[in-house]
Amino acid sequence: MRFHVMTLFPEMIDAAVNTSILGRAIEKGILSVQSVNIRDYTLDKHNRVDDYTYGGGAGMLMQAQPVYDCYLDISKKLDTDKSPRVVYMTPQGSVFDQKMAKEFAAEEDIIFLCGHYEGIDERVLEKIVTDYVSIGDYVLTGGELPALVCMDAISRMVPGVLGNSESGETESFDDGLLEYPQYSRPEVWMDEAVPEVLMSGHHANIIKWRHEQSLKRTKERRPDLYEKYVASHDKL
Ligand code: ADE
Repeated sequence: MRFHVMTLFPEMIDAAVNTSILGRAIEKGILSVQSVNIRDYTLDKHNRVDDYTYGGGAGMLMQAQPVYDCYLDISKKLDTDKSPRVVYMTPQGSVFDQKMAKEFAAEEDIIFLCGHYEGIDERVLEKIVTDYVSIGDYVLTGGELPALVCMDAISRMVPGVLGNSESGETESFDDGLLEYPQYSRPEVWMDEAVPEVLMSGHHANIIKWRHEQSLKRTKERRPDLYEKYVASHDKL
């Protein structure tokens, strides 16, 4: 899978992707991340990529031309006939979730577009963007952190990125519930013992206990998810 990131701050992307599990997947050749500086495509003699907004109002807007030329350059270098999804990171997008992470993980190429200032000229967005994606209802200073968040969540859904011991199969959100609590050695820590059922070796009881814990935890911490879960299981 190949990620391409259109940004004014490529060093932000490069600094984050070469570490940890993403870095290992890049080394193994399962993933690649290419950050492309939109400023390299400006035709302005002072290297500017932003300008005032028509109609007035505070703040500057990223101009259409450098964004479009950057996109064309990335696209023409892709060795595929499929036109890639172009994901614009914006608080005005659909809120990113685990289901989207899985869906995006099936793509070969994804181009992320990171905005800055007050946003990007609407005309280029209309021409190139296929998906408007937000990482939550708050406003950040740019799209780089959101793009990194999405790339991280998508990557771990790509086969081979996680090792067996880090498997993404049974975990929070997989069935719409939060994950149950987990314990490791020692058996007693600060007078607190590991729940007895986990020491029993009784597999069916362990599965049942974990499911109950998932339900309880989801109800307490994420009542919104709990309601959805109950509603969808009532229908069955
Ligand atoms: N850019 C600024 N804020 C954002 C957010 N919440 N999600 C995605 N992109 C953004």
